[in-house]
Amino acid sequence: MKLDPVLLPRPQVFERTAGEFTLNRSVRAAGVAEAVDAIALVSERLWSSSRIRVDHAETDAAGLRFIADPALAAEAYVLEVGPSCVEVRASSSAGFGHGAVTLLQLMGDGVWRSATAGARAITIPACRIEDEPRFGWRGLMLDVARHFLPVREVLRLLDLMAMHKYNRLHFHLTDDQGWRVEIKAWPRLTEVSSWRSRSQVGADDATAPENDRPHGGFYTRADIAEIVAYAASRGITVVPEIDVPGHSQAAIAAYPHLGIPTADGRDPEVEVWPRFGVSGFPLNAEEPTVEFFRTVLDELLELFPSVDIGLGGDEVPSGPWEADPRSWELARVRGLGHPRELQFWFLDQLNAHIRSRGRRMLAWDEILEHDEPEGVTVLGWRGETGVRTALRRGLPVVACPDNALYFDYRQSDDPREPVPVGVVVDLRTVYASDPIPAGATAEEAALVRGAQANLWTEHLDSSRAVDYMLWPRACALAEVLWSGPGGDFDEFDRRLETHLRRLAERGVEYRRADGPLPWQERPGVAGRVQDQAERQREIDLLTATIA
Ligand code: ACM
Repeated sequence: MKLDPVLLPRPQVFERTAGEFTLNRSVRAAGVAEAVDAIALVSERLWSSSRIRVDHAETDAAGLRFIADPALAAEAYVLEVGPSCVEVRASSSAGFGHGAVTLLQLMGDGVWRSATAGARAITIPACRIEDEPRFGWRGLMLDVARHFLPVREVLRLLDLMAMHKYNRLHFHLTDDQGWRVEIKAWPRLTEVSSWRSRSQVGADDATAPENDRPHGGFYTRADIAEIVAYAASRGITVVPEIDVPGHSQAAIAAYPHLGIPTADGRDPEVEVWPRFGVSGFPLNAEEPTVEFFRTVLDELLELFPSVDIGLGGDEVPSGPWEADPRSWELARVRGLGHPRELQFWFLDQLNAHIRSRGRRMLAWDEILEHDEPEGVTVLGWRGETGVRTALRRGLPVVACPDNALYFDYRQSDDPREPVPVGVVVDLRTVYASDPIPAGATAEEAALVRGAQANLWTEHLDSSRAVDYMLWPRACALAEVLWSGPGGDFDEFDRRLETHLRRLAERGVEYRRADGPLPWQERPGVAGRVQDQAERQREIDLLTATIA
């Protein structure tokens, strides 16, 4: 008996049928307009990996048929492989794309390679698959502010995401340590804010040493247009994030009038922050500062069609506002009880601005300290507390609890893990995660849009380091989000063994089950580790006002 093909994420319905379909030298494909990207993907893979040419044909004469089926849900597909043809049915380009990825997974080893020494034949087992995702938001967050990734690496990540049926790239574009997107109206954001002179090395807070290497980079408008279009062709929406009013020291370095004045009333003189942690320099809440960011958002909305737009709102230190007489004055004039509330006043202004343009705010769960955030989707990150609180208040949520889905956290308690931080988030933990918290009511569950893993890059200074932290944990999350939570880990782990060969064919330097390879270790670079109980106590403290 032949073994069933290894599919990851696992499809909802798989049925092996009799026979197989063989591809040899060339095959003809036919499809509706929505299937062009799916056909292009299959053609490109077959030609590169196996020198099998895909020609176009009328449907009846084609071996590969991509057929519109309006009865199917947006991302669903049906895939049937018979001895004489392969049929993929879907109602959208995303559905065809997911079907194409599954079809490639049916083709066995070698299909993800970029070239072959000679032509090969490929045999696809006959089967019928009916498939659709369990969650609508299947995301990865990439922090390109702490460490920049060049366009080619972002495109590569999008390819890898599509291989796992992810559909959201949350693009964290700005932070204290760097500003990564060209804004025509404010050129110093790229001239000044996109570079820092040096970087903290390791995680040991105030005492961690620094290197003396400048770091930077930014995406031009043309780069962003390319990234957004490339993502769209793979069924992925790029959700940009401009993090305000904290996490903004890089912008203040270029435009000091955005910051809270010094005690003697001058604009603050700060550099693009070389340290990691929470900077003590938030934005001020003056009207011109809000207007500055309205302009930033106007340009951003031109570049990113995503309805959801990240405005950040996390980890805003209130001390600088409390120490500033002008902020007290602004709070009083605006009828706020305390300058700490300027944080939400500021977000309200930008929220109103993007809402007037038909977009919606995505914000970290600190937004729950606010009374009435209009139209917000909450990124629940501080354990499960943010997720649960948002649901209790009837707000839509994307779950990204740090203690299960922060992929910058260490993958085991092996001391060789490179710059180990946070709690252990191992493969089993990710696979056991559920975007819907235990005990949620049906109405609450319906508010969970899905989940994402967050990859903060303080300690990830190359795409090789990014690979190590993402894979295979992102394989596990992909299955939770597409196939549904509650799968059998050991069965997943057996499929993963085969699936990792696909990643290897794509040149991904994933973490091996036995830990880092010697070059992946960072001996002598300090981390900062916690256990789950310690982290939970910290979360309880941080979320005391919202829980
Ligand atoms: C966060 O980790 N500050 C959202």
